[in-house]
Amino acid sequence: MSSAPSSTSSGVLKPDPAGAMDASSATPPASPHRALAAERARAYDDVYKGWHVKRITRESYEASTRFFLDAPPDQPGHLDGNELALAFRLLDVEHLSGRRILDFCCGAGRSSIYFALRGADVWACDRSPQAIHIAAESAKLSGVADRVQFCAADAQELAYPDCFFDAVFCQSALHILIDYPEVSTELARVLKPGGKAVFCDEALGHNPLLEIVRWVRRRKHVRCGGRTLRLGDLRAFGRPFAQTRIHTFNLLLQSKQFFGQAAHRPWAKFVLRKLRTADETMLSALPFLRRFCGKVVVEYARNAE
Ligand SMILES: C[S@@+](CC[C@H](N)C(=O)[O-])C[C@H]1O[C@@H](n2cnc3c(N)ncnc32)[C@H](O)[C@@H]1O
Repeated sequence: MSSAPSSTSSGVLKPDPAGAMDASSATPPASPHRALAAERARAYDDVYKGWHVKRITRESYEASTRFFLDAPPDQPGHLDGNELALAFRLLDVEHLSGRRILDFCCGAGRSSIYFALRGADVWACDRSPQAIHIAAESAKLSGVADRVQFCAADAQELAYPDCFFDAVFCQSALHILIDYPEVSTELARVLKPGGKAVFCDEALGHNPLLEIVRWVRRRKHVRCGGRTLRLGDLRAFGRPFAQTRIHTFNLLLQSKQFFGQAAHRPWAKFVLRKLRTADETMLSALPFLRRFCGKVVVEYARNAE
């Protein structure tokens, strides 16, 4: 693996004395944003206490993230698989060998491990020490502990050198990071010229029906923070980058989440395929409907210098 900030024997980076603190640290955070991040990290720590260390293989990861309409009948494909497929295409995951990837806000590290299994040199950070513990142990069990360096650190203050990463991947955290103005500047700093940061998340807050569903769900994890993204937020976050591209998904097909396990029944698959076709037709004929979609992939790129 290429040179990097120093790590412990467990593959977990020591918190950076300059500020990338462990959430359990007694030192008070320096700014209101850091204080908020520390409070949310404690909430996430509580969530991750219920998670287990897992062995991950390429096959198990791909089976669990495949878009369920295309998954084999005996495999319950993950309902969110389709936007991951685009994010992975943008990251060119078929050619990860020897590339440095940052899995930003990595949670339990499943994607970090997958990238390492595909040959990348991976660095992964998250503000929750409990998440990082599970991720590092899972990496050991998956045989890639030497290819992934985990770090319990705040996204606002990264302990990585300038121009270090070929690409950054971030799943389901942009709706939290959007509250911290320094994060995108940090990401642009650590990306190499020509590098790309790819985010996937719930889509935009322009659809009132989706907003109601999200409000009900979020009440369960209110301490973890986060809010629905809007187009203006995504553009503002992209200011330190040379290019921003926003891809939205799932207009009618967003209703797949209400099917639950029934989604695997033949009649449901038939209905969902029809919804997918209707989405494709409507979104290409009436592009303004894209703002009402349920999922988003955002691509921020640095200029090649
Ligand atoms: C919804 S989870 C997504 C985790 C992972 N990317 C996944 O898809 O499974 C959001 C993650 O963001 C992390 N997070 C929240 N605020 C953070 C911050 N200020 N710095 C770093 N990580 C943060 C949380 O600890 C949590 O693991």
